[in-house]
Amino acid sequence: MSDNFPKNTPLTPAISEKLASLFSEMQIDEINWLREHLNALAKKTANKASELMVLYGTESGNAESLAEQTAEKANKLGFKAKISNMADISLATLKKVDNLLVIVSTWGEGDPPETAIEFYEAFMSDAAPKLDPINFSVLALGDTSYEHFCKIGKDFDSRLENLGGNRLFQRKDCDVDFDDEFAEWSDGALKAFSSVLTVDTSSNTASTQTQTAVKYSRKNPCQSDLSERINLNGTGSAKETMHLEFDLSDTGLTYEAGDSLAVQPKNSDELVNALLETTQFDPSTSVSIKEETYSLAEAFKSILDITTLSIPFLTRYNGIANNQALADLLEDEDKSNIQSYINGRDLIDVLVDYPAKELNPQSLVDLLRKLPPRLYSIASSQKAHPDSVHLTVAVVRYETHGRKREGVCSSYLADRLDLDATADVFVTPNKNFKLPKNTDAPIIMVGPGTGIAPFRAFMQERKALGAKGKNWLFFGDQHFITDFLYQAEWQTYQKEGLLSKIDLAFSRDQKEKVYVQDKMLANARELFSWLESGAYFYVCGDASRMAHDVDKALHRIVQEQGSISEEDAVAYVKNMKTEKRYLRDVY
Ligand SMILES: Cc1cc2nc3c(=O)[nH]c(=O)nc-3n(C[C@H](O)[C@H](O)[C@H](O)COP(=O)(O)OP(=O)(O)OC[C@H]3O[C@@H](n4cnc5c(N)ncnc54)[C@H](O)[C@@H]3O)c2cc1C
Ligand SMILES: NC(=O)c1ccc[n+]([C@@H]2O[C@H](COP(=O)([O-])OP(=O)(O)OC[C@H]3O[C@@H](n4cnc5c(N)ncnc54)[C@H](OP(=O)(O)O)[C@@H]3O)[C@@H](O)[C@H]2O)c1
Ligand SMILES: Cc1cc2nc3c(=O)[nH]c(=O)nc-3n(C[C@H](O)[C@H](O)[C@H](O)COP(=O)(O)O)c2cc1C
Repeated sequence: MSDNFPKNTPLTPAISEKLASLFSEMQIDEINWLREHLNALAKKTANKASELMVLYGTESGNAESLAEQTAEKANKLGFKAKISNMADISLATLKKVDNLLVIVSTWGEGDPPETAIEFYEAFMSDAAPKLDPINFSVLALGDTSYEHFCKIGKDFDSRLENLGGNRLFQRKDCDVDFDDEFAEWSDGALKAFSSVLTVDTSSNTASTQTQTAVKYSRKNPCQSDLSERINLNGTGSAKETMHLEFDLSDTGLTYEAGDSLAVQPKNSDELVNALLETTQFDPSTSVSIKEETYSLAEAFKSILDITTLSIPFLTRYNGIANNQALADLLEDEDKSNIQSYINGRDLIDVLVDYPAKELNPQSLVDLLRKLPPRLYSIASSQKAHPDSVHLTVAVVRYETHGRKREGVCSSYLADRLDLDATADVFVTPNKNFKLPKNTDAPIIMVGPGTGIAPFRAFMQERKALGAKGKNWLFFGDQHFITDFLYQAEWQTYQKEGLLSKIDLAFSRDQKEKVYVQDKMLANARELFSWLESGAYFYVCGDASRMAHDVDKALHRIVQEQGSISEEDAVAYVKNMKTEKRYLRDVY
């Protein structure tokens, strides 16, 4: 081989031979030029080869936490992994990425997480650039009880492929109990990436860009005592909204205003007994769940979800029941029929309606998923209450198909968790629902019903900080007399001058319904002037109707008061979102 041949270039024998013959005919300056460029390219490729972006889209923090764990695992394997939030990334940045892992949840009714909407829409639009030759794999987070299970993860997966990406590892769709599926996916995806990329296995000490591990989590919850429970609704109210306080003394649990608290509930003895009676199984039968052994009664009470029905569950169940009527319902192209069967029913209904003779305790347990924790917006500031965390919980009770029913967690908190008894809780941080760093900035808070919770925390926080920014609250519920949640506190804040303005919408105190958005529209001019002076606009509470209607009212106010076109009003509100001045915590 010629002496002019570039050193240390990893080439196959056939290419080496061909290049050697070419080199023998080249001038020395041509060879030097080529050597320089090949060396630069080799360096760049070696650096880039191990770079991995872990891109996440999250609303309640699960995807972020899994992205952090993935990056940590990847760095230990010798990748240069970094995490990015869909809230902060542009398509132009993504275009430069060669190796991508996406972890994204689905919200609303098949919608992206609130902070990922803008990125998702751009990525799905015709404006999205070709991405070849990006290598990718997707982890989709969701909940099988929703009709559009893991839709957003599925959308990213197929769009990445359509834009020219190379799927290195199959997408995994996760239900709420995602630990095993996450471990399987992250191990598999990183193995697939390491087989095509150069990773520096010698340095497994690479620093990660992740945060230090959170002390408490789903797998390691904080055990905290319930220290206070007050029904905030007055006698005669149709509602039951509990103010709850958990004692954090000596737990080390920390939270910030705007975060949520996850509570791991237990099912009621009444429901467990009814289920045991329906199945006629012996409550003391031993069953195994993920290598742990429980009595069937304990598994039904504390470990398994025995209320939520979903199409995947019913499909698995009918694998044992072999019921033709259920099979017809499941196979019906019109999914609204199976959805309407599911609504308002639970496991007992299925066992009665479609009996499965072959079912035994273990096979039933194997069909069920783990009981998922429920989230609650935190209603206190730790600056004001260093040793406690407060919640505002609406108790779910209703009657359907001839049986009285109750929400698992809200009834656990209202009825079954005794004062001074311990519950398993952990914080799910919400980095996207925070007070402005500038304490002088004005804020507008729209929080009907339990949507009031984080705003109570915001006011406590602003008071503790001595924040000078103006505060305006829109609150609504059914009746002034019985449902004005935390009335005395708001009145005190008003007297103290902390709460600059409050507008109330008691929907059922008059013939025509009055909602918070009606109060916004009635104050349109002033609301717009607050926005123009840089106010942050927060919304918390019902996602299905209220948040949508408030959004419509906001657009209308901007258009009318700003005397601008509909398109310009859309752009104005979009810009508020980009500036992180329009923030929502809706459920
Ligand atoms: C980020 C976040 C913050 C939240 N913050 C709060 C908060 O501050 N306060 C609060 O109270 N909640 C809050 N929630 C809601 C909370 O997490 C629970 O969803 C709620 O308490 C119900 O849980 P549950 O276990 O009591 O009911 P579940 O056992 O989960 O039952 C609820 C289900 O029952 C069914 N259902 C309910 N009513 C009826 C009816 N009339 N007819 C037929 N079916 C019905 C529906 O399928 C519904 O999904 C929040 C949720 C999220 C995601
Ligand atoms: N996604 C969900 O399924 C969801 C979300 C939130 C709450 N909930 C359930 O609802 C129950 C109570 O919740 P909550 O205490 O938070 O109160 P809520 O039901 O949200 O009601 C609070 C106030 O909002 C009003 N409201 C109803 N529709 C509205 C709309 N489109 N725009 C603005 N305001 C509207 C209600 O009026 P009227 O009732 O008089 O119409 C009431 O005055 C709980 O059982 C909870 O689980 C369900
Ligand atoms: C109000 C609400 C709506 C949801 N909608 C869906 C849905 O449409 N489809 C789905 O698969 N999962 C849905 N989920 C489940 C979430 O995707 C799941 O809890 C996920 O783990 C959340 O991840 P995150 O914390 O990263 O946002 C919903 C959850 C809530 C609380």
